[in-house]
Amino acid sequence: MKQGKIDALLGIVFGDEGKGKVVDYFTPQYDVVARFAGGPNAGHTIIFDGKKFVLRSIPSGIFNDNTLNIIGNGCVIAPDLFCQEARELEKAGYIMKDRLHISKRAQLILPTHRALDRAYEALKGKAKIGTTGKGIGPAYSDKAARIGLRVGDILDDFDAKYKQLKERHEQILKDLGYEYDITEEEKSWLEGVDYMRSLHLTDTEIEINRLLSEGKSVLAEGAQGSLLDLDHGTYPMVSSSSTTCGGVCTGLGVAPGKIDQVFGIFKAYSTRVGSGPFPVELFDSVGDTIREIGHEYGAVTGRNRRCGWVDLVALKYAAMINGVTQLVMMKSDVLDSFAHIKVCTAYTKDGVVTTDMPYDLNGWQPVYDELPGWKCDLTAMTSEEEFPQALNDYISYIERYMGIPITIVSVGPDRRATIVRS
Ligand code: GDP
Ligand code: IMO
Ligand code: MG
Repeated sequence: MKQGKIDALLGIVFGDEGKGKVVDYFTPQYDVVARFAGGPNAGHTIIFDGKKFVLRSIPSGIFNDNTLNIIGNGCVIAPDLFCQEARELEKAGYIMKDRLHISKRAQLILPTHRALDRAYEALKGKAKIGTTGKGIGPAYSDKAARIGLRVGDILDDFDAKYKQLKERHEQILKDLGYEYDITEEEKSWLEGVDYMRSLHLTDTEIEINRLLSEGKSVLAEGAQGSLLDLDHGTYPMVSSSSTTCGGVCTGLGVAPGKIDQVFGIFKAYSTRVGSGPFPVELFDSVGDTIREIGHEYGAVTGRNRRCGWVDLVALKYAAMINGVTQLVMMKSDVLDSFAHIKVCTAYTKDGVVTTDMPYDLNGWQPVYDELPGWKCDLTAMTSEEEFPQALNDYISYIERYMGIPITIVSVGPDRRATIVRS
Protein backbone atom coordinates (compact mmCIF):
# COMPACT_ATOMS: atom_id res chain seq x y z
CA MET A 1 0.00 0.00 0.00
CA LYS A 2 1.42 3.39 -1.06
CA GLN A 3 0.01 6.81 -0.24
CA GLY A 4 -1.67 8.44 -3.22
CA LYS A 5 -1.81 5.17 -5.16
CA ILE A 6 -4.32 2.51 -6.09
CA ASP A 7 -3.73 -1.19 -5.59
CA ALA A 8 -5.98 -3.62 -7.42
CA LEU A 9 -7.09 -7.03 -6.23
CA LEU A 10 -8.29 -9.03 -9.21
CA GLY A 11 -9.66 -12.53 -9.64
CA ILE A 12 -7.47 -14.00 -12.36
CA VAL A 13 -9.43 -17.13 -13.21
CA PHE A 14 -13.22 -17.71 -13.50
CA GLY A 15 -14.34 -15.78 -10.40
CA ASP A 16 -15.06 -16.94 -6.84
CA GLU A 17 -11.35 -16.99 -6.03
CA GLY A 18 -11.93 -15.49 -2.55
CA LYS A 19 -11.69 -11.79 -3.43
CA GLY A 20 -14.16 -10.75 -0.71
CA LYS A 21 -12.16 -12.45 2.02
CA VAL A 22 -8.86 -10.85 1.03
CA VAL A 23 -10.28 -7.38 0.38
CA ASP A 24 -11.83 -7.48 3.86
CA TYR A 25 -8.48 -8.64 5.28
CA PHE A 26 -6.60 -5.80 3.52
CA THR A 27 -9.17 -3.10 4.27
CA PRO A 28 -7.66 -1.65 7.48
CA GLN A 29 -4.58 -0.69 5.41
CA TYR A 30 -6.58 1.44 2.94
CA ASP A 31 -8.58 4.68 3.11
CA VAL A 32 -10.90 3.67 0.27
CA VAL A 33 -12.19 0.39 -1.15
CA ALA A 34 -13.85 0.67 -4.56
CA ARG A 35 -15.73 -1.69 -6.86
CA PHE A 36 -15.11 -0.84 -10.51
CA ALA A 37 -17.00 -3.53 -12.49
CA GLY A 38 -19.88 -5.94 -12.37
CA GLY A 39 -22.92 -5.88 -10.16
CA PRO A 40 -25.09 -8.40 -8.32
CA ASN A 41 -23.68 -11.24 -10.41
CA ALA A 42 -20.85 -11.12 -7.86
CA GLY A 43 -21.05 -12.93 -4.53
CA HIS A 44 -18.18 -12.07 -2.20
CA THR A 45 -18.07 -14.05 1.04
CA ILE A 46 -16.63 -12.59 4.22
CA ILE A 47 -16.38 -14.47 7.51
CA PHE A 48 -15.23 -13.03 10.83
CA ASP A 49 -16.18 -13.29 14.52
CA GLY A 50 -18.49 -16.21 13.72
CA LYS A 51 -20.47 -14.07 11.25
CA LYS A 52 -20.84 -14.63 7.52
CA PHE A 53 -21.81 -12.05 4.90
CA VAL A 54 -22.18 -12.48 1.13
CA LEU A 55 -21.82 -9.13 -0.64
CA ARG A 56 -23.03 -8.57 -4.18
CA SER A 57 -22.80 -4.89 -5.04
CA ILE A 58 -21.38 -3.38 -1.87
CA PRO A 59 -17.58 -3.31 -1.56
CA SER A 60 -15.94 -5.69 0.91
CA GLY A 61 -14.41 -2.78 2.84
CA ILE A 62 -17.80 -2.05 4.42
CA PHE A 63 -16.98 -3.68 7.77
CA ASN A 64 -14.24 -1.22 8.66
CA ASP A 65 -15.41 1.99 10.36
CA ASN A 66 -12.60 4.11 8.91
CA THR A 67 -12.84 3.07 5.28
CA LEU A 68 -14.83 4.86 2.60
CA ASN A 69 -16.47 2.44 0.15
CA ILE A 70 -17.22 3.43 -3.42
CA ILE A 71 -19.31 1.83 -6.15
CA GLY A 72 -17.67 3.19 -9.29
CA ASN A 73 -19.02 4.20 -12.69
CA GLY A 74 -18.04 0.85 -14.26
CA CYS A 75 -20.59 -1.00 -12.13
CA VAL A 76 -24.22 -1.89 -12.77
CA ILE A 77 -26.71 -1.68 -9.89
CA ALA A 78 -30.09 -3.32 -9.36
CA PRO A 79 -31.81 -0.99 -6.84
CA ASP A 80 -34.00 -3.74 -5.32
CA LEU A 81 -31.14 -6.18 -4.71
CA PHE A 82 -28.88 -3.36 -3.60
CA CYS A 83 -31.49 -2.11 -1.11
CA GLN A 84 -31.98 -5.63 0.29
CA GLU A 85 -28.23 -6.07 0.70
CA ALA A 86 -27.77 -2.63 2.28
CA ARG A 87 -30.65 -3.12 4.72
CA GLU A 88 -29.26 -6.44 5.91
CA LEU A 89 -25.94 -4.77 6.60
CA GLU A 90 -27.69 -1.87 8.34
CA LYS A 91 -29.50 -4.36 10.55
CA ALA A 92 -26.10 -5.71 11.51
CA GLY A 93 -24.99 -2.18 12.42
CA TYR A 94 -23.17 -1.03 9.28
CA ILE A 95 -24.89 2.19 8.19
CA MET A 96 -24.53 2.87 4.47
CA LYS A 97 -24.91 6.65 4.56
CA ASP A 98 -21.69 7.05 6.53
CA ARG A 99 -19.69 4.49 4.64
CA LEU A 100 -20.75 4.25 1.00
CA HIS A 101 -20.63 6.60 -1.98
CA ILE A 102 -22.12 5.63 -5.34
CA SER A 103 -21.16 6.96 -8.76
CA LYS A 104 -23.91 8.86 -10.54
CA ARG A 105 -22.42 7.35 -13.71
CA ALA A 106 -23.01 3.72 -12.70
CA GLN A 107 -25.71 2.04 -14.78
CA LEU A 108 -29.06 0.79 -13.48
CA ILE A 109 -30.30 -2.76 -14.00
CA LEU A 110 -34.06 -2.67 -14.65
CA PRO A 111 -36.44 -5.57 -13.92
CA THR A 112 -36.89 -5.84 -17.68
CA HIS A 113 -33.11 -6.27 -18.09
CA ARG A 114 -33.45 -9.41 -15.97
CA ALA A 115 -36.37 -10.63 -18.07
CA LEU A 116 -34.26 -10.02 -21.18
CA ASP A 117 -31.34 -11.93 -19.62
CA ARG A 118 -33.62 -14.91 -19.06
CA ALA A 119 -35.19 -14.58 -22.52
CA TYR A 120 -31.83 -14.48 -24.32
CA GLU A 121 -30.60 -17.49 -22.35
CA ALA A 122 -33.78 -19.43 -23.19
CA LEU A 123 -33.33 -18.53 -26.84
CA LYS A 124 -29.78 -19.89 -26.85
CA GLY A 125 -30.97 -23.30 -25.65
CA LYS A 126 -28.02 -25.65 -25.20
CA ALA A 127 -25.58 -22.88 -26.14
CA LYS A 128 -26.66 -20.79 -23.14
CA ILE A 129 -23.98 -18.98 -21.15
CA GLY A 130 -25.39 -19.99 -17.79
CA THR A 131 -25.60 -16.39 -16.62
CA THR A 132 -26.52 -15.46 -13.08
CA GLY A 133 -29.84 -14.12 -14.43
CA LYS A 134 -29.21 -10.72 -12.89
CA GLY A 135 -29.61 -8.73 -16.12
CA ILE A 136 -25.89 -8.00 -16.42
CA GLY A 137 -25.51 -8.53 -20.19
CA PRO A 138 -28.63 -6.54 -21.19
CA ALA A 139 -27.71 -3.65 -18.84
CA TYR A 140 -24.15 -3.36 -20.20
CA SER A 141 -25.55 -3.71 -23.76
CA ASP A 142 -27.81 -0.71 -23.16
CA LYS A 143 -24.84 1.21 -21.79
CA ALA A 144 -22.88 0.53 -24.98
CA ALA A 145 -25.95 1.35 -27.08
CA ARG A 146 -26.15 4.66 -25.20
CA ILE A 147 -29.73 4.15 -24.07
CA GLY A 148 -29.07 2.94 -20.51
CA LEU A 149 -30.21 4.69 -17.34
CA ARG A 150 -27.64 5.85 -14.86
CA VAL A 151 -27.82 6.29 -11.11
CA GLY A 152 -27.80 10.09 -11.62
CA ASP A 153 -31.03 9.74 -13.61
CA ILE A 154 -33.00 8.87 -10.49
CA LEU A 155 -32.47 12.43 -9.26
CA ASP A 156 -34.31 14.11 -12.11
CA ASP A 157 -37.51 13.33 -14.06
CA PHE A 158 -36.94 9.63 -13.52
CA ASP A 159 -40.44 8.28 -14.14
CA ALA A 160 -40.48 9.34 -17.80
CA LYS A 161 -36.99 8.00 -18.46
CA TYR A 162 -37.81 4.71 -16.77
CA LYS A 163 -41.05 4.32 -18.70
CA GLN A 164 -39.31 4.94 -22.02
CA LEU A 165 -36.61 2.30 -21.51
CA LYS A 166 -39.02 -0.18 -19.97
CA GLU A 167 -41.35 0.11 -22.97
CA ARG A 168 -38.45 -0.45 -25.31
CA HIS A 169 -37.59 -3.65 -23.43
CA GLU A 170 -41.22 -4.76 -23.37
CA GLN A 171 -41.38 -4.47 -27.14
CA ILE A 172 -38.28 -6.67 -27.53
CA LEU A 173 -39.68 -9.24 -25.10
CA LYS A 174 -42.97 -9.24 -27.00
CA ASP A 175 -41.14 -9.73 -30.31
CA LEU A 176 -39.28 -12.65 -28.77
CA GLY A 177 -42.57 -14.13 -27.57
CA TYR A 178 -41.14 -14.36 -24.07
CA GLU A 179 -43.64 -14.51 -21.21
CA TYR A 180 -42.76 -12.83 -17.96
CA ASP A 181 -44.31 -11.03 -15.03
CA ILE A 182 -42.39 -8.29 -13.22
CA THR A 183 -45.28 -6.76 -11.25
CA GLU A 184 -43.97 -7.67 -7.79
CA GLU A 185 -40.34 -7.19 -8.76
CA GLU A 186 -41.04 -3.73 -10.10
CA LYS A 187 -42.63 -2.64 -6.81
CA SER A 188 -39.59 -3.48 -4.75
CA TRP A 189 -37.33 -2.15 -7.51
CA LEU A 190 -39.01 1.28 -7.27
CA GLU A 191 -38.72 1.14 -3.47
CA GLY A 192 -35.04 0.42 -3.99
CA VAL A 193 -34.75 3.50 -6.19
CA ASP A 194 -36.30 5.57 -3.38
CA TYR A 195 -33.84 4.12 -0.89
CA MET A 196 -30.94 4.94 -3.20
CA ARG A 197 -32.05 8.59 -3.32
CA SER A 198 -31.33 8.77 0.43
CA LEU A 199 -27.70 7.77 -0.10
CA HIS A 200 -24.61 9.68 -1.16
CA LEU A 201 -24.73 9.71 -5.00
CA THR A 202 -21.82 11.61 -6.40
CA ASP A 203 -19.08 12.06 -9.01
CA THR A 204 -16.88 9.35 -7.57
CA GLU A 205 -14.14 9.76 -10.18
CA ILE A 206 -13.56 13.34 -8.96
CA GLU A 207 -13.71 12.20 -5.35
CA ILE A 208 -11.22 9.35 -5.82
CA ASN A 209 -8.75 11.55 -7.68
CA ARG A 210 -9.02 14.23 -5.00
CA LEU A 211 -8.40 11.67 -2.28
CA LEU A 212 -5.40 10.29 -4.18
CA SER A 213 -3.95 13.77 -4.56
CA GLU A 214 -4.33 14.19 -0.78
CA GLY A 215 -2.16 11.09 -0.34
CA LYS A 216 -4.95 8.65 0.48
CA SER A 217 -4.69 4.98 -0.55
CA VAL A 218 -7.30 3.07 -2.57
CA LEU A 219 -7.92 -0.64 -3.03
CA ALA A 220 -9.83 -1.53 -6.20
CA GLU A 221 -11.88 -4.68 -5.59
CA GLY A 222 -12.32 -6.84 -8.67
CA ALA A 223 -15.46 -8.79 -9.45
CA GLN A 224 -15.69 -11.95 -11.54
CA GLY A 225 -12.34 -13.08 -12.97
CA SER A 226 -10.02 -12.36 -15.90
CA LEU A 227 -11.28 -15.34 -17.92
CA LEU A 228 -14.80 -13.89 -17.68
CA ASP A 229 -13.59 -10.52 -19.02
CA LEU A 230 -15.54 -9.31 -22.05
CA ASP A 231 -12.37 -8.90 -24.13
CA HIS A 232 -9.90 -11.36 -22.68
CA GLY A 233 -12.11 -14.12 -21.33
CA THR A 234 -13.46 -17.21 -23.09
CA TYR A 235 -15.80 -15.17 -25.30
CA PRO A 236 -18.75 -15.53 -25.71
CA MET A 237 -18.96 -17.50 -22.44
CA VAL A 238 -18.03 -14.45 -20.38
CA SER A 239 -19.59 -11.68 -18.37
CA SER A 240 -20.16 -8.26 -19.95
CA SER A 241 -17.72 -5.99 -18.17
CA SER A 242 -13.99 -5.30 -18.07
CA THR A 243 -12.90 -7.37 -15.11
CA THR A 244 -9.20 -6.89 -15.79
CA CYS A 245 -6.80 -4.13 -14.76
CA GLY A 246 -7.84 -1.83 -17.59
CA GLY A 247 -11.32 -1.91 -16.07
CA VAL A 248 -9.93 -0.31 -12.91
CA CYS A 249 -9.01 2.81 -14.93
CA THR A 250 -12.25 3.06 -16.90
CA GLY A 251 -14.48 1.82 -14.07
CA LEU A 252 -13.21 4.34 -11.52
CA GLY A 253 -11.91 7.15 -13.74
CA VAL A 254 -8.27 6.91 -12.70
CA ALA A 255 -5.11 7.08 -14.80
CA PRO A 256 -2.97 3.93 -15.29
CA GLY A 257 -0.01 5.60 -13.60
CA LYS A 258 -1.96 5.76 -10.34
CA ILE A 259 -1.98 1.96 -10.07
CA ASP A 260 0.78 0.48 -7.93
CA GLN A 261 0.39 -3.15 -6.81
CA VAL A 262 -1.80 -5.61 -8.72
CA PHE A 263 -2.75 -8.63 -6.61
CA GLY A 264 -3.75 -11.61 -8.74
CA ILE A 265 -5.90 -13.96 -6.69
CA PHE A 266 -6.46 -17.64 -7.51
CA LYS A 267 -7.37 -20.88 -5.74
CA ALA A 268 -4.87 -23.71 -5.24
CA TYR A 269 -7.12 -25.51 -7.76
CA SER A 270 -9.61 -24.27 -10.38
CA THR A 271 -13.37 -23.77 -10.56
CA ARG A 272 -15.85 -22.43 -13.07
CA VAL A 273 -19.62 -21.80 -12.80
CA GLY A 274 -21.84 -21.76 -15.86
CA SER A 275 -21.00 -22.95 -19.37
CA GLY A 276 -17.85 -22.52 -21.44
CA PRO A 277 -14.52 -24.24 -22.06
CA PHE A 278 -12.59 -25.37 -19.00
CA PRO A 279 -9.67 -27.62 -20.02
CA VAL A 280 -8.71 -28.69 -16.50
CA GLU A 281 -12.24 -29.77 -15.53
CA LEU A 282 -12.31 -33.10 -13.68
CA PHE A 283 -15.30 -35.33 -14.33
CA ASP A 284 -14.18 -38.05 -11.92
CA SER A 285 -14.33 -38.55 -8.17
CA VAL A 286 -11.34 -36.22 -7.68
CA GLY A 287 -13.43 -33.32 -9.03
CA ASP A 288 -16.32 -34.34 -6.75
CA THR A 289 -13.99 -34.52 -3.75
CA ILE A 290 -12.64 -31.00 -4.42
CA ARG A 291 -16.24 -29.73 -4.74
CA GLU A 292 -17.28 -31.37 -1.47
CA ILE A 293 -14.26 -30.29 0.58
CA GLY A 294 -14.15 -26.81 -0.96
CA HIS A 295 -17.95 -26.31 -0.73
CA GLU A 296 -17.85 -25.33 -4.36
CA TYR A 297 -21.43 -24.22 -4.82
CA GLY A 298 -22.22 -20.73 -6.18
CA ALA A 299 -22.63 -17.98 -3.56
CA VAL A 300 -25.26 -16.27 -5.75
CA THR A 301 -27.05 -19.09 -7.57
CA GLY A 302 -26.21 -22.18 -5.46
CA ARG A 303 -25.14 -23.99 -8.63
CA ASN A 304 -22.41 -26.66 -8.57
CA ARG A 305 -19.06 -25.15 -9.46
CA ARG A 306 -17.06 -27.24 -11.95
CA CYS A 307 -13.71 -28.22 -10.41
CA GLY A 308 -10.21 -29.05 -11.66
CA TRP A 309 -6.51 -28.72 -10.96
CA VAL A 310 -4.75 -25.37 -11.06
CA ASP A 311 -4.23 -24.06 -14.60
CA LEU A 312 -0.91 -22.24 -14.95
CA VAL A 313 -1.43 -21.45 -18.65
CA ALA A 314 -4.57 -19.50 -17.73
CA LEU A 315 -2.91 -17.89 -14.72
CA LYS A 316 0.08 -16.75 -16.78
CA TYR A 317 -2.15 -15.26 -19.46
CA ALA A 318 -4.18 -13.39 -16.85
CA ALA A 319 -1.04 -12.18 -15.07
CA MET A 320 0.18 -10.75 -18.38
CA ILE A 321 -3.08 -8.95 -19.19
CA ASN A 322 -3.30 -7.48 -15.69
CA GLY A 323 0.35 -6.78 -14.92
CA VAL A 324 0.09 -8.84 -11.73
CA THR A 325 2.85 -7.99 -9.25
CA GLN A 326 1.89 -10.37 -6.41
CA LEU A 327 -0.07 -13.59 -6.29
CA VAL A 328 -2.54 -14.61 -3.59
CA MET A 329 -3.25 -18.35 -3.29
CA MET A 330 -6.59 -19.26 -1.71
CA LYS A 331 -8.18 -22.42 -0.33
CA SER A 332 -4.88 -24.27 0.00
CA ASP A 333 -6.43 -26.28 2.85
CA VAL A 334 -8.91 -27.85 0.43
CA LEU A 335 -6.03 -29.94 -1.00
CA ASP A 336 -4.88 -31.16 2.45
CA SER A 337 -5.96 -34.76 1.92
CA PHE A 338 -4.58 -35.38 -1.57
CA ALA A 339 -1.55 -37.67 -1.95
CA HIS A 340 -0.77 -36.16 -5.37
CA ILE A 341 -1.60 -32.77 -6.81
CA LYS A 342 -1.53 -31.98 -10.51
CA VAL A 343 -0.73 -28.67 -12.17
CA CYS A 344 -1.60 -27.84 -15.78
CA THR A 345 1.53 -26.49 -17.48
CA ALA A 346 0.44 -26.52 -21.15
CA TYR A 347 -2.49 -27.34 -23.44
CA THR A 348 -2.48 -29.84 -26.30
CA LYS A 349 -4.75 -30.39 -29.31
CA ASP A 350 -4.21 -32.43 -32.50
CA GLY A 351 -0.55 -33.02 -31.65
CA VAL A 352 0.12 -29.32 -31.01
CA VAL A 353 1.33 -28.23 -27.57
CA THR A 354 1.08 -24.63 -26.41
CA THR A 355 1.67 -22.58 -23.29
CA ASP A 356 -0.11 -19.56 -24.81
CA MET A 357 -3.83 -19.04 -24.26
CA PRO A 358 -5.52 -20.20 -27.50
CA TYR A 359 -8.03 -17.95 -29.29
CA ASP A 360 -10.64 -20.68 -28.82
CA LEU A 361 -10.12 -22.79 -25.71
CA ASN A 362 -12.60 -25.47 -26.81
CA GLY A 363 -11.08 -28.89 -27.42
CA TRP A 364 -7.71 -28.22 -25.79
CA GLN A 365 -6.57 -30.82 -23.26
CA PRO A 366 -4.38 -30.14 -20.24
CA VAL A 367 -0.77 -31.29 -19.99
CA TYR A 368 -0.06 -32.02 -16.34
CA ASP A 369 2.91 -32.17 -14.05
CA GLU A 370 2.40 -33.96 -10.75
CA LEU A 371 3.64 -32.99 -7.31
CA PRO A 372 3.37 -34.78 -3.97
CA GLY A 373 0.58 -33.57 -1.68
CA TRP A 374 1.30 -32.38 1.87
CA LYS A 375 -1.23 -34.67 3.55
CA CYS A 376 -1.64 -32.59 6.67
CA ASP A 377 -4.04 -30.06 8.15
CA LEU A 378 -3.14 -26.47 7.20
CA THR A 379 -6.16 -24.85 8.80
CA ALA A 380 -4.66 -24.19 12.22
CA MET A 381 -1.41 -22.77 10.85
CA THR A 382 -0.65 -19.13 11.52
CA SER A 383 2.75 -18.59 9.90
CA GLU A 384 4.70 -19.86 6.91
CA GLU A 385 7.29 -21.40 9.23
CA GLU A 386 4.72 -24.10 9.95
CA PHE A 387 4.20 -24.98 6.27
CA PRO A 388 5.06 -28.57 5.27
CA GLN A 389 7.82 -28.99 2.68
CA ALA A 390 5.39 -30.26 0.04
CA LEU A 391 3.34 -27.05 0.29
CA ASN A 392 6.49 -24.95 0.03
CA ASP A 393 7.44 -26.97 -3.07
CA TYR A 394 3.98 -26.40 -4.58
CA ILE A 395 4.26 -22.66 -3.93
CA SER A 396 7.80 -22.50 -5.40
CA TYR A 397 6.70 -24.45 -8.48
CA ILE A 398 3.92 -21.95 -9.23
CA GLU A 399 6.18 -18.96 -8.48
CA ARG A 400 8.85 -20.28 -10.86
CA TYR A 401 6.37 -20.88 -13.67
CA MET A 402 4.72 -17.50 -13.19
CA GLY A 403 7.81 -15.45 -12.35
CA ILE A 404 5.73 -13.70 -9.67
CA PRO A 405 5.84 -14.20 -5.88
CA ILE A 406 2.96 -15.69 -3.92
CA THR A 407 2.82 -13.28 -0.99
CA ILE A 408 -0.37 -14.50 0.68
CA VAL A 409 -1.59 -18.04 1.31
CA SER A 410 -5.11 -18.60 2.61
CA VAL A 411 -5.77 -21.71 4.71
CA GLY A 412 -9.43 -21.29 5.70
CA PRO A 413 -12.50 -19.11 5.09
CA ASP A 414 -12.14 -16.99 8.22
CA ARG A 415 -10.47 -13.58 8.06
CA ARG A 416 -7.75 -14.85 10.43
CA ALA A 417 -6.81 -17.86 8.28
CA THR A 418 -4.61 -15.66 6.09
CA ILE A 419 -0.85 -16.10 6.05
CA VAL A 420 1.45 -13.39 4.73
CA ARG A 421 4.77 -14.67 3.33
CA SER A 422 7.89 -12.65 3.73
P1 GDP B 1 -15.24 -14.22 -4.36
O1 GDP B 1 -16.42 -14.10 -5.25
O2 GDP B 1 -13.95 -14.16 -5.12
O3 GDP B 1 -15.25 -13.23 -3.22
O4 GDP B 1 -15.31 -15.68 -3.71
P2 GDP B 1 -16.64 -16.42 -3.14
O5 GDP B 1 -17.02 -15.80 -1.86
O6 GDP B 1 -17.67 -16.52 -4.20
O7 GDP B 1 -16.08 -17.89 -2.95
C1 GDP B 1 -15.02 -18.18 -2.11
C2 GDP B 1 -15.50 -19.23 -1.08
O8 GDP B 1 -14.39 -19.82 -0.47
C3 GDP B 1 -16.30 -18.62 0.05
O9 GDP B 1 -17.26 -19.55 0.47
C4 GDP B 1 -15.26 -18.38 1.13
O10 GDP B 1 -15.81 -18.37 2.44
C5 GDP B 1 -14.36 -19.56 0.93
N1 GDP B 1 -12.93 -19.37 1.25
C6 GDP B 1 -12.17 -18.28 1.03
N2 GDP B 1 -10.88 -18.54 1.35
C7 GDP B 1 -10.83 -19.81 1.77
C8 GDP B 1 -9.77 -20.68 2.21
O11 GDP B 1 -8.60 -20.33 2.24
N3 GDP B 1 -10.12 -21.96 2.55
C9 GDP B 1 -11.40 -22.40 2.49
N4 GDP B 1 -11.63 -23.68 2.83
N5 GDP B 1 -12.42 -21.62 2.07
C10 GDP B 1 -12.13 -20.35 1.71
P1 IMO C 1 -17.58 -13.17 -8.30
O1 IMO C 1 -17.34 -11.68 -8.25
C1 IMO C 1 -18.17 -16.72 -10.78
C2 IMO C 1 -20.31 -16.16 -14.59
C3 IMO C 1 -21.68 -16.78 -14.71
C4 IMO C 1 -21.73 -17.04 -16.20
C5 IMO C 1 -21.00 -15.84 -16.79
C6 IMO C 1 -21.90 -14.71 -17.25
O2 IMO C 1 -18.39 -13.69 -7.17
O3 IMO C 1 -16.30 -13.90 -8.53
P2 IMO C 1 -23.41 -12.89 -16.01
O4 IMO C 1 -24.54 -13.06 -15.05
O5 IMO C 1 -22.28 -12.08 -15.48
O6 IMO C 1 -23.86 -12.41 -17.35
O7 IMO C 1 -22.86 -14.40 -16.24
O8 IMO C 1 -20.15 -15.35 -15.75
N1 IMO C 1 -20.11 -15.26 -13.42
C7 IMO C 1 -19.43 -15.59 -12.32
N2 IMO C 1 -18.81 -16.73 -11.97
N3 IMO C 1 -18.08 -15.64 -9.98
C8 IMO C 1 -18.67 -14.48 -10.32
O9 IMO C 1 -18.53 -13.35 -9.60
C9 IMO C 1 -19.40 -14.42 -11.53
N4 IMO C 1 -20.10 -13.45 -12.15
C10 IMO C 1 -20.52 -13.97 -13.30
O10 IMO C 1 -21.77 -17.96 -13.96
O11 IMO C 1 -20.98 -18.19 -16.51
MG1 MG D 1 -18.17 -15.16 -5.73
